[in-house]
Amino acid sequence: MGVVHLPVLDPAPAEAAELVEIQLGHMCNNRCVFCSSGQATEMGQALPMDLAPVLGALERAKRQRARKVTFLGGEPTLQRAFLPALRRATDLGFEEIEIFTNGVKAARRSFVDEVAAIGPFSWRFSIQGGNLQAHDEAVVKPGAFLRICRAMDNVREHGHRITANACINELSYRSLPDYVALVKRYGIEQLHIDVVRPSSAGQRTDEYLGEVMPRHVDMAPYFDEMLTAFEAWDPSFDVNVGNFPYCLLPKWSHRIHHGGMDTLTLAADLENDLTEKDKYEAQHSDKLHGPRCRACAFERQCSGVFDAYVRIHGTDELRPITATAWAALDASGERAALVEGARSVAAALGVGPEAMRVDEPGLSFDDRGVRVMVAPRGQAGLAVGRTGALDMVVSVVATLGQQEAEAWVDRARGEVPWDVAPRAVWIAALMGTDHVARGRAAIAELVGRARAGVRHEPNPTWPGVRVVGTSGEVEDVRIAWPGAPELLVRDDAAPSIRK
Ligand SMILES: C[S@@+](CC[C@H](N)C(=O)[O-])C[C@H]1O[C@@H](n2cnc3c(N)ncnc32)[C@H](O)[C@@H]1O
Ligand code: SF4
Repeated sequence: MGVVHLPVLDPAPAEAAELVEIQLGHMCNNRCVFCSSGQATEMGQALPMDLAPVLGALERAKRQRARKVTFLGGEPTLQRAFLPALRRATDLGFEEIEIFTNGVKAARRSFVDEVAAIGPFSWRFSIQGGNLQAHDEAVVKPGAFLRICRAMDNVREHGHRITANACINELSYRSLPDYVALVKRYGIEQLHIDVVRPSSAGQRTDEYLGEVMPRHVDMAPYFDEMLTAFEAWDPSFDVNVGNFPYCLLPKWSHRIHHGGMDTLTLAADLENDLTEKDKYEAQHSDKLHGPRCRACAFERQCSGVFDAYVRIHGTDELRPITATAWAALDASGERAALVEGARSVAAALGVGPEAMRVDEPGLSFDDRGVRVMVAPRGQAGLAVGRTGALDMVVSVVATLGQQEAEAWVDRARGEVPWDVAPRAVWIAALMGTDHVARGRAAIAELVGRARAGVRHEPNPTWPGVRVVGTSGEVEDVRIAWPGAPELLVRDDAAPSIRK
């Protein structure tokens, strides 16, 4: 048995958040239709921010060993405190310093040069539509799109990292597919698209919110078109969608997030006093499920829809989806194989079928202390099966104790159903590869090496895999991996299990 990472569902909370966001007041030079800061500026309520509290917040973040700090607002670049804050953050040596901006000021080359003279930064641009019309209408500023494009060109010239964010709304959702060209053109490394959060929209009536918040069901085809195009271009590109109900884009569930990394947000009130806020808790406190959501395979990881949304549009569009229906959404059959495999592992462990979820860890666990789930890649827990974007994860709760937990994990691994799933899936799974196709390629490579007489060397693609020998001339290659049955590989590199 290889190293067992004890997967726990409820790890002790970290001492402090790794990521700290500091809101530099509310002053803004755009008037985005969904934003409280633009509205506060319009109403003459937004004030300049003093430097002292910002420096205090930076020192504290450093003491608490934050890795990354983000400056946002309002529009942070408008504040007198902005450049001194960047200097101090640079001196304090944070691993990453991010500027979250609407890009209006950075359209001026000399401004970006001044910032870049302080140090290298990450720039998170708010591109509020995939094209000129959508962006300019959403930020209520003609010319804003051309400015943000110039800003990205300026930043690229300095080689700084660019990511992007958007709050998609009635004026912009039809432009979603156009983000693909922007990402390619400006070298955007990551794109997050959120829907309108009523709690961040300022003082608005339901009538107003109804005009800017489209129904999810109307937006879904545009999200689908955009995500399909990104997938076709580069499946590893990091595009994700915030707060969208899983049941309306089930095929893209691994791209949807209802939460995020632990982030400490120091939010400014209208007096610019900075107070600590748990960003994701605050974002979920005004969300509701529909009456039918209990029957949905995503119920536990889905935080629902905003209460203002429910008042305006209701919950009729929310349709529970079963794990089986979700599994069938994958033409290649890998997802179905993963779910089928999870079912039989769960059954073998004595975990009831109700504990098998399409899920994220950490939110719930069944009372026997063990849970089998099919989850987006990279989640805590031991991945015993794997396809391109998803893992089959076995998790045990911390209260079980190390030994008992390891015993469960051993049993789970022993129960991987070799005959249920297409073999290549499980082979790729047990070998820890990223994708079945890659798994096949790697098997072919291993076989090639074995035939060339290379043996017993660590393999960079599959750490822990050893070619243990050949039998006959070049006919058979046996591949052994800790905890998995030995594979027998013949000429065509289609491996079989050596019983
Ligand atoms: C508040 S702005 C501050 C930084 C800067 N002014 C900018 O636009 O990037 C940060 C992000 O918050 C998002 N945002 C603002 N209001 C929102 C709302 N009601 N719902 C969801 N996101 C919102 C915007 O899309 C923007 O990308
Ligand atoms: S999203 Fe940013 S640019 Fe738009 S109004 Fe709010 S603070 Fe200003």
